[in-house]
Amino acid sequence: MRTILRTIPLPSPELYYPASGVSVVTALRERRSQHEFASGPLPLTVLGTLLNEAAGITERFGRGTPSPGRAYPVACVVAVCAVDGVPPAFYRYEPKEHTLAPLGIDAAPREWLTGVLANRGIAETEAVHVFAVGDGYAAEQHFGDNAERFLLLEAGQLIQSMLLVAQHQKIGACTIGRFDRAAAETLLAPTTAQGLPLHSAAFGLPLT
Ligand SMILES: Cc1cc2nc3c(=O)[nH]c(=O)nc-3n(C[C@H](O)[C@H](O)[C@H](O)COP(=O)(O)O)c2cc1C
Repeated sequence: MRTILRTIPLPSPELYYPASGVSVVTALRERRSQHEFASGPLPLTVLGTLLNEAAGITERFGRGTPSPGRAYPVACVVAVCAVDGVPPAFYRYEPKEHTLAPLGIDAAPREWLTGVLANRGIAETEAVHVFAVGDGYAAEQHFGDNAERFLLLEAGQLIQSMLLVAQHQKIGACTIGRFDRAAAETLLAPTTAQGLPLHSAAFGLPLT
Protein backbone atom coordinates (compact mmCIF):
# COMPACT_ATOMS: atom_id res chain seq x y z
CA MET A 1 0.00 0.00 0.00
CA ARG A 2 1.34 3.45 -0.92
CA THR A 3 2.36 5.65 2.03
CA ILE A 4 0.67 9.05 1.93
CA LEU A 5 3.35 11.70 2.34
CA ARG A 6 2.69 15.22 3.52
CA THR A 7 4.08 18.47 2.12
CA ILE A 8 7.29 19.38 3.95
CA PRO A 9 7.72 23.05 4.92
CA LEU A 10 11.40 23.95 4.62
CA PRO A 11 13.16 26.01 7.32
CA SER A 12 12.93 29.77 6.92
CA PRO A 13 15.86 31.32 5.07
CA GLU A 14 16.17 33.75 8.00
CA LEU A 15 17.59 30.88 10.06
CA TYR A 16 20.80 30.67 8.08
CA TYR A 17 21.25 34.16 6.63
CA PRO A 18 23.64 36.07 6.90
CA ALA A 19 26.16 34.05 5.02
CA SER A 20 28.88 31.66 6.16
CA GLY A 21 31.60 33.98 4.87
CA VAL A 22 32.61 31.88 1.83
CA SER A 23 33.00 34.31 -1.06
CA VAL A 24 31.99 33.42 -4.61
CA VAL A 25 35.64 33.45 -5.66
CA THR A 26 36.58 31.09 -2.82
CA ALA A 27 33.65 28.85 -3.67
CA LEU A 28 34.80 28.69 -7.31
CA ARG A 29 38.42 28.02 -6.35
CA GLU A 30 37.56 25.29 -3.89
CA ARG A 31 34.76 23.56 -5.78
CA ARG A 32 35.63 20.07 -7.00
CA SER A 33 33.23 17.31 -8.00
CA GLN A 34 32.68 14.75 -5.25
CA HIS A 35 31.89 11.24 -6.45
CA GLU A 36 31.46 9.78 -2.98
CA PHE A 37 29.94 11.21 0.19
CA ALA A 38 30.17 10.56 3.91
CA SER A 39 27.32 8.53 5.36
CA GLY A 40 24.64 10.32 7.32
CA PRO A 41 21.65 12.50 6.57
CA LEU A 42 21.89 16.04 5.25
CA PRO A 43 20.38 18.59 7.68
CA LEU A 44 17.04 19.94 6.45
CA THR A 45 18.30 23.52 6.77
CA VAL A 46 21.13 22.72 4.34
CA LEU A 47 18.67 21.37 1.77
CA GLY A 48 16.35 24.34 2.35
CA THR A 49 19.25 26.76 1.76
CA LEU A 50 20.35 24.98 -1.39
CA LEU A 51 16.88 25.17 -2.88
CA ASN A 52 15.94 28.61 -1.65
CA GLU A 53 19.08 30.42 -2.77
CA ALA A 54 19.29 28.77 -6.19
CA ALA A 55 15.65 28.12 -7.07
CA GLY A 56 13.45 29.97 -4.55
CA ILE A 57 11.37 32.87 -5.83
CA THR A 58 10.51 35.69 -3.45
CA GLU A 59 8.75 39.03 -3.97
CA ARG A 60 11.68 40.79 -2.40
CA PHE A 61 14.66 39.02 -3.98
CA GLY A 62 13.32 37.37 -7.15
CA ARG A 63 15.32 34.22 -7.89
CA GLY A 64 19.06 33.60 -7.46
CA THR A 65 19.22 31.90 -10.86
CA PRO A 66 18.13 34.04 -13.82
CA SER A 67 15.30 33.01 -16.16
CA PRO A 68 14.59 34.48 -19.61
CA GLY A 69 11.69 36.95 -19.30
CA ARG A 70 11.07 35.73 -15.72
CA ALA A 71 9.25 32.75 -17.21
CA TYR A 72 10.79 30.17 -14.81
CA PRO A 73 10.12 27.12 -17.02
CA VAL A 74 12.69 25.01 -15.16
CA ALA A 75 11.65 23.43 -11.84
CA CYS A 76 13.44 21.19 -9.35
CA VAL A 77 12.50 17.59 -8.64
CA VAL A 78 14.23 16.49 -5.45
CA ALA A 79 14.96 12.79 -4.90
CA VAL A 80 15.50 12.57 -1.14
CA CYS A 81 17.65 9.61 -0.07
CA ALA A 82 18.79 10.78 3.38
CA VAL A 83 17.65 14.12 4.79
CA ASP A 84 16.82 14.75 8.46
CA GLY A 85 13.07 14.51 9.02
CA VAL A 86 12.13 13.90 5.37
CA PRO A 87 10.90 10.46 4.26
CA PRO A 88 12.93 9.19 1.27
CA ALA A 89 10.78 9.94 -1.79
CA PHE A 90 10.48 12.19 -4.85
CA TYR A 91 9.30 15.75 -4.25
CA ARG A 92 8.77 18.88 -6.30
CA TYR A 93 10.29 22.03 -4.84
CA GLU A 94 7.63 24.74 -4.68
CA PRO A 95 9.72 27.90 -4.98
CA LYS A 96 7.12 30.43 -3.80
CA GLU A 97 5.91 28.42 -0.79
CA HIS A 98 9.43 27.08 -0.04
CA THR A 99 8.09 23.56 0.48
CA LEU A 100 8.68 20.05 -0.81
CA ALA A 101 5.49 18.61 -2.30
CA PRO A 102 5.46 14.80 -2.65
CA LEU A 103 5.03 13.62 -6.25
CA GLY A 104 3.30 10.35 -5.39
CA ILE A 105 5.98 8.23 -7.10
CA ASP A 106 6.33 4.75 -5.61
CA ALA A 107 9.97 4.07 -6.58
CA ALA A 108 12.61 4.16 -3.80
CA PRO A 109 14.96 7.03 -4.74
CA ARG A 110 18.35 5.43 -4.01
CA GLU A 111 17.58 2.17 -5.79
CA TRP A 112 16.10 4.01 -8.74
CA LEU A 113 19.08 6.40 -9.00
CA THR A 114 21.50 3.47 -8.87
CA GLY A 115 19.76 2.12 -11.96
CA VAL A 116 19.66 5.33 -14.01
CA LEU A 117 22.92 7.22 -13.29
CA ALA A 118 25.84 6.34 -15.55
CA ASN A 119 28.08 6.81 -12.51
CA ARG A 120 26.20 4.41 -10.23
CA GLY A 121 28.65 4.72 -7.34
CA ILE A 122 27.42 8.26 -6.63
CA ALA A 123 23.90 7.00 -5.98
CA GLU A 124 25.15 4.68 -3.25
CA THR A 125 26.20 7.52 -0.94
CA GLU A 126 24.47 10.73 -2.08
CA ALA A 127 21.90 12.25 0.28
CA VAL A 128 19.89 14.17 -2.32
CA HIS A 129 19.65 14.25 -6.10
CA VAL A 130 18.11 17.29 -7.79
CA PHE A 131 16.78 17.13 -11.35
CA ALA A 132 16.25 20.36 -13.29
CA VAL A 133 13.00 19.63 -15.12
CA GLY A 134 11.84 21.84 -17.99
CA ASP A 135 8.31 22.71 -19.05
CA GLY A 136 8.57 22.34 -22.82
CA TYR A 137 5.11 23.77 -23.52
CA ALA A 138 5.69 26.93 -21.45
CA ALA A 139 9.11 27.37 -23.04
CA GLU A 140 7.64 27.21 -26.54
CA GLN A 141 4.96 29.76 -25.62
CA HIS A 142 7.53 32.16 -24.18
CA PHE A 143 10.62 31.58 -26.31
CA GLY A 144 9.45 30.15 -29.66
CA ASP A 145 12.49 29.00 -31.66
CA ASN A 146 14.75 29.53 -28.67
CA ALA A 147 12.74 27.15 -26.44
CA GLU A 148 15.10 24.18 -26.39
CA ARG A 149 18.23 26.28 -26.06
CA PHE A 150 16.81 28.47 -23.29
CA LEU A 151 15.58 25.47 -21.30
CA LEU A 152 19.04 23.91 -21.38
CA LEU A 153 20.77 27.20 -20.58
CA GLU A 154 18.51 27.87 -17.60
CA ALA A 155 18.95 24.30 -16.33
CA GLY A 156 22.73 24.68 -16.54
CA GLN A 157 22.65 27.97 -14.65
CA LEU A 158 20.31 26.53 -12.01
CA ILE A 159 22.59 23.58 -11.32
CA GLN A 160 25.67 25.84 -11.25
CA SER A 161 23.94 28.05 -8.67
CA MET A 162 23.35 24.95 -6.56
CA LEU A 163 27.00 23.93 -6.80
CA LEU A 164 28.03 27.35 -5.48
CA VAL A 165 25.51 27.23 -2.63
CA ALA A 166 26.74 23.70 -1.83
CA GLN A 167 30.29 25.03 -1.64
CA HIS A 168 29.12 27.90 0.55
CA GLN A 169 27.58 25.36 2.91
CA LYS A 170 30.66 23.13 2.77
CA ILE A 171 28.80 20.08 1.53
CA GLY A 172 29.81 17.81 -1.36
CA ALA A 173 28.29 18.04 -4.84
CA CYS A 174 28.65 16.71 -8.38
CA THR A 175 26.94 17.80 -11.60
CA ILE A 176 25.36 14.78 -13.24
CA GLY A 177 24.51 15.05 -16.92
CA ARG A 178 24.80 11.38 -17.77
CA PHE A 179 21.64 9.61 -16.71
CA ASP A 180 19.11 7.45 -18.54
CA ARG A 181 16.90 10.23 -19.87
CA ALA A 182 14.17 7.92 -21.12
CA ALA A 183 13.88 6.26 -17.70
CA ALA A 184 13.89 9.65 -15.95
CA GLU A 185 11.22 10.99 -18.30
CA THR A 186 9.06 7.87 -17.83
CA LEU A 187 9.21 8.25 -14.05
CA LEU A 188 8.88 12.02 -13.74
CA ALA A 189 6.76 13.18 -16.71
CA PRO A 190 3.37 11.96 -15.42
CA THR A 191 3.70 13.95 -12.19
CA THR A 192 5.43 17.05 -13.58
CA ALA A 193 3.08 18.08 -16.43
CA GLN A 194 5.23 16.16 -18.94
CA GLY A 195 8.39 17.85 -17.63
CA LEU A 196 11.69 17.12 -19.36
CA PRO A 197 14.60 16.08 -17.10
CA LEU A 198 17.38 18.29 -18.50
CA HIS A 199 20.22 18.18 -16.03
CA SER A 200 20.91 17.11 -12.46
CA ALA A 201 23.27 17.12 -9.49
CA ALA A 202 24.09 14.94 -6.50
CA PHE A 203 24.67 16.35 -3.00
CA GLY A 204 25.86 14.80 0.24
CA LEU A 205 27.99 15.19 3.34
CA PRO A 206 31.65 15.76 2.45
CA LEU A 207 34.21 13.05 3.09
CA THR A 208 36.66 14.36 5.67
C1 LIG B 1 27.45 19.10 -18.27
C2 LIG B 1 28.21 18.24 -17.30
C3 LIG B 1 27.83 16.92 -17.11
C4 LIG B 1 28.50 16.11 -16.19
N1 LIG B 1 28.06 14.84 -15.99
C5 LIG B 1 28.67 14.05 -15.08
C6 LIG B 1 28.17 12.73 -14.83
O1 LIG B 1 27.21 12.28 -15.42
N2 LIG B 1 28.80 11.98 -13.88
C7 LIG B 1 29.88 12.45 -13.19
O2 LIG B 1 30.41 11.71 -12.34
N3 LIG B 1 30.37 13.69 -13.40
C8 LIG B 1 29.78 14.51 -14.32
N4 LIG B 1 30.23 15.80 -14.53
C9 LIG B 1 31.35 16.29 -13.72
C10 LIG B 1 32.67 16.32 -14.51
O3 LIG B 1 33.14 15.02 -14.75
C11 LIG B 1 33.69 17.13 -13.69
O4 LIG B 1 33.24 18.46 -13.60
C12 LIG B 1 35.07 17.11 -14.33
O5 LIG B 1 35.66 15.83 -14.16
C13 LIG B 1 36.03 18.16 -13.74
O6 LIG B 1 36.22 17.94 -12.35
P1 LIG B 1 35.84 19.04 -11.26
O7 LIG B 1 34.35 19.25 -11.32
O8 LIG B 1 36.28 18.45 -9.94
O9 LIG B 1 36.58 20.29 -11.60
C14 LIG B 1 29.60 16.62 -15.45
C15 LIG B 1 29.98 17.96 -15.66
C16 LIG B 1 29.29 18.75 -16.55
C17 LIG B 1 29.71 20.19 -16.73
